[in-house]
Amino acid sequence: MGPIGIFDSGYGGLTILKDIRKKLPQYDYLYLGDNARAPYGPRSFDVVYEFTLQAVNELFSRGCELVIVACNTASAKALRTIQQNDLPRIDKDKRVLGVIRPSSEIIGQVTKSNHIGILATPGTVTSESYLIEIEKFSPQCKVTQHACPMWVPLIENNEHNTSAGKEFIKKDIEELLKADKRIDTILLGCTHYPVLKEYLASIVPENIEIIAQGEIVANSLADYLIRHPWMDSKCSKNGSVHFLTSENKDEFNKNASIYFGERVNASHVKIG
Ligand code: DGL
Repeated sequence: MGPIGIFDSGYGGLTILKDIRKKLPQYDYLYLGDNARAPYGPRSFDVVYEFTLQAVNELFSRGCELVIVACNTASAKALRTIQQNDLPRIDKDKRVLGVIRPSSEIIGQVTKSNHIGILATPGTVTSESYLIEIEKFSPQCKVTQHACPMWVPLIENNEHNTSAGKEFIKKDIEELLKADKRIDTILLGCTHYPVLKEYLASIVPENIEIIAQGEIVANSLADYLIRHPWMDSKCSKNGSVHFLTSENKDEFNKNASIYFGERVNASHVKIG
């Protein structure tokens, strides 16, 4: 038995872990942030795949049987290859799940106008993963993507609350809403973005709903564990949570509470 692994390029996955832990507090969790190599958003397919596989292997080597890739960019660029090519070779009884599919399943049920906006990193947008996945579940929906290359650096540097930061963010929102005026639902397709949710809600028209992924992923994981009791029995349940970062651990501890809502005490890990 082992903890459930949660991986992100940096801090963003903490917003997902926070909701997963609220929903499923009985499980043990091991979080890994590859902060030293973040952001992944502008990196090529090959590099994101290589880094994600290294991180997943690190979590496997620490006893995780199930790993959630709590990063849209890594889910878009690496997940399928890891599931199809690497897992059968590494250990066919381990599992790796992502965040794009659960969000794509749900989002068509939220919109009333059937016009959806996706905000994400350039990597997620160019992969077109959301267009492909939402089409499978809600072919009636028109999906407009908008890449926000500045958002992750702004958030990671804690500059999203400055007036310059807010201007950047507002401009991206205006561009998205100009591209499709009927959008009534915006999915935050990057796990860093929930820290902006309040500000975003204050600048969009009232009829627009902004959806973060945490609760969706938490519900989907709960459902997965019910449907796969063999995997559930391999996930230890002592209610613990531990954190690993590839960067300086004091720096990680200082910033993590913005995303996780609690103080954390991380250990340093060298990945790759
Ligand atoms: N949090 C990651 C995501 O959900 C993106 C951060 C990055 O660019 O590394 O896409």
